[in-house]
Amino acid sequence: MACESEKWVLMVTAQTPTNIAVIKYWGKRDESLILPINDSISVTLDPEHLCTTTTVAVSPSFDQDRMWLNGKEISLSGGRYQRCLREIRSRASDVEDEKKGIKITKKDWENLHVHIASYNNFPTAAGLASSAAGFACLVFSLAKLMNVKEDQGKLSAIARQGSGSACRSLYGGFVKWIMGKHDDGSDSIAVQLADEKHWDDLVIVIAVVSSRQKETSSTSGMRESVETSMLIKHRAKEVVPKRIVDMEEAIKNRDFPSFAHLACADSNQFHAVCLDTCPPIFYMNDTIIGCVEKWNRSEESPQVAYTFDAGPNAVLIARNRKVAASLLQRLLFHFPPSSDADLSSYVIGDKSILQDVGVTDLKDIEALPPPPEIKDAQKYKGDVSYFICTKPGKGPVLLSDKNQALLSPETGLPK
Ligand code: DP6
Repeated sequence: MACESEKWVLMVTAQTPTNIAVIKYWGKRDESLILPINDSISVTLDPEHLCTTTTVAVSPSFDQDRMWLNGKEISLSGGRYQRCLREIRSRASDVEDEKKGIKITKKDWENLHVHIASYNNFPTAAGLASSAAGFACLVFSLAKLMNVKEDQGKLSAIARQGSGSACRSLYGGFVKWIMGKHDDGSDSIAVQLADEKHWDDLVIVIAVVSSRQKETSSTSGMRESVETSMLIKHRAKEVVPKRIVDMEEAIKNRDFPSFAHLACADSNQFHAVCLDTCPPIFYMNDTIIGCVEKWNRSEESPQVAYTFDAGPNAVLIARNRKVAASLLQRLLFHFPPSSDADLSSYVIGDKSILQDVGVTDLKDIEALPPPPEIKDAQKYKGDVSYFICTKPGKGPVLLSDKNQALLSPETGLPK
């Protein structure tokens, strides 16, 4: 290694998407290795609208591992961070940067410390699976920095030990997390089923809900379900294995009616398991489900799928852009913004769908007609804090533009 007195800083910046499960992971068979009781399938969301950016740096001048999340220093002492760092470090290889005159050998990595800065381009408090994108990005960027020569599947098994759903954020498009059989978790990895171009008609609208009570974390919620629910056993053993096969087939054939039916049914069963938990866990609010169910039933085949994670935000998947415009029109009718909101922050992400709806200002929202399939359609003003319009997206990428780095190349501290 270059002499200790040298103050070089070597760094890598990467961007990793978040994902939404359409067949849910709920329940672990091993808490510390994070091994699930069933397979799960997810759609990766476009990182342009929802992603984590992480810069990792190494320098002989760093005296400990440190991390900053959205600009604030956080502790790395938790078991999940420690495990990811240890697993990546143990697989590090030689790194040479001739231009900077830096040579790090495999052995040196054991004694070198890293700085990590991570930033979510969406509010962490919105409850949008920030831990999935976060741990995936941590593992992906450290693997690049340390020249880890493992394939994406092996990296997914490391990200899994940060947060289960993180293993699915190592790929774009449609992803399956295979639960695996081994006790050491080596076969509990994520694989890509199809990339994002395979089914690029889909449009995703996320309703971020305003009043959020203190929710049970996924980790403790699923622990309580495994301990107390009978339904979860039936789900993992009998229901999910068949749904996984059917969902893979639906994705392969771009069969939207089957996709929607499976995604909605699986979200509903996951929440049924939550209700079957003692004491019961309530995550979602059913107003949006009612609207989508009525609309789907009034059409010849389902137009929109809904799915809810461990919180009240609704993720709605429309079969194409035209349907997405009708969906957004319905959503804006039912959930107009509170009086002090402005349109540009009420619908974010791919705002072009608003033009398809013909909405250019708040008055246009007030004038929207009620959905024809609903009698006495109600309004829930202010219940939604904002909508994000997005689509299936790509997997992790390295960012080579130095301006996008979150750490200073001179000091290795947040910019
Ligand atoms: C409802 O991955 O957040 O979003 O593994 O304990 O970190 P830990 O849990 P986490 O759980 C996600 C649960 C879910 C369903 C899913 O993403 O499959």
